[in-house]
Amino acid sequence: MFAHKTRMMKSQINDIDQETENHDTFLNDVINGLTQSEKTLPSKYFYNAVGDVLFQKIMHCDDYYLTRSEMDIFKNKTEQLAEPFLQNSEPFELIELGAGDGSKTKHLLQYLTDKNAPFTYSPIDISEHILSVLEDRLSQDIPELKIKPENGDYFDALKRICDRSNQRKVVLFLGSNIGNMVYEDAIAFCSKLSSMLSPKDLVLIGFDLKKDPQTILQAYNDSTGYTAQFNLNLLQRMNDELHADFELNQFVHYPTYNPQTGACKSFLISQQDQTVQLGDEEISFKKYEPIFMEVSRKFSLADIRNLAEKTGFEPISHNYDSKQWFTDVLWQVK
Ligand SMILES: C[S@@+](CC[C@H](N)C(=O)[O-])C[C@H]1O[C@@H](n2cnc3c(N)ncnc32)[C@H](O)[C@@H]1O
Repeated sequence: MFAHKTRMMKSQINDIDQETENHDTFLNDVINGLTQSEKTLPSKYFYNAVGDVLFQKIMHCDDYYLTRSEMDIFKNKTEQLAEPFLQNSEPFELIELGAGDGSKTKHLLQYLTDKNAPFTYSPIDISEHILSVLEDRLSQDIPELKIKPENGDYFDALKRICDRSNQRKVVLFLGSNIGNMVYEDAIAFCSKLSSMLSPKDLVLIGFDLKKDPQTILQAYNDSTGYTAQFNLNLLQRMNDELHADFELNQFVHYPTYNPQTGACKSFLISQQDQTVQLGDEEISFKKYEPIFMEVSRKFSLADIRNLAEKTGFEPISHNYDSKQWFTDVLWQVK
């Protein structure tokens, strides 16, 4: 009884330590971003419970074509996506980086389960909230599925999985999350990914392709205003969790798309000279000064090939949606 109580107390203390660490990391990261000469905020902090719900609304709105395009691939090319994963009935770990609500992945999981494929699905996400939504849905929809969610940053969580399992790995990175990294970061990310995996392991990455600039810009400036709310929610999150005092109506969402670089960038523009208190820091904003919130890069096929070549992967196959707006690319670790 005494040992049980002690264990419970230790686990509560660990939870509190973890919360304090998360709070301090969040505070340090946002202060670091907002004290740069060009102010910026790390986009991984978009995803709290409110951000998750807003992102799901974005995914369902007419202007945001990305989810529909990739869903087209997952619904209509399921066999082409899944078959290369099935190698001589050898068991594998199916790992998804930034899984979100898994609405597209579900089609792949159902196909693999119907084929009695010997795999465990390990979705990784920084949002504990979305992982529990995902786990609940999948345990209802595909009760036979073996699922082991991992909450945390991409590579911390991937390392935990690699430490616990030496089965071959198949890694999914969907939704053009790779586009949320500037070129150098995408190179560093893919290089680290290939170095943590073993030769012949597979990765399936979703890339949003370059297309009509108006179509792209509209996706990040949806008429329902969800993308604007999604960006502003990060200021609200800082108010709620870090006791900052952002006035949300003094910042306006402003997306841009550069068809030469393929970079779609979202900014929040300060509407006046203003000062915000954040921890011990006072952050000053000039009227019309931007905070760079997120990049969503668009790719040519040459860009994708180049990324694979520079980061230790060999391209195996491409699957496209019916409009050829999006591609899910299978790479093998060299
Ligand atoms: C744009 S959503 C895409 C979700 C899903 N992949 C899809 O295609 O629908 C990005 C997801 O990645 C997660 N995420 C963002 N940054 C992350 C990080 N550094 N580590 C782990 N998860 C992250 C977010 O919480 C969110 O669920």
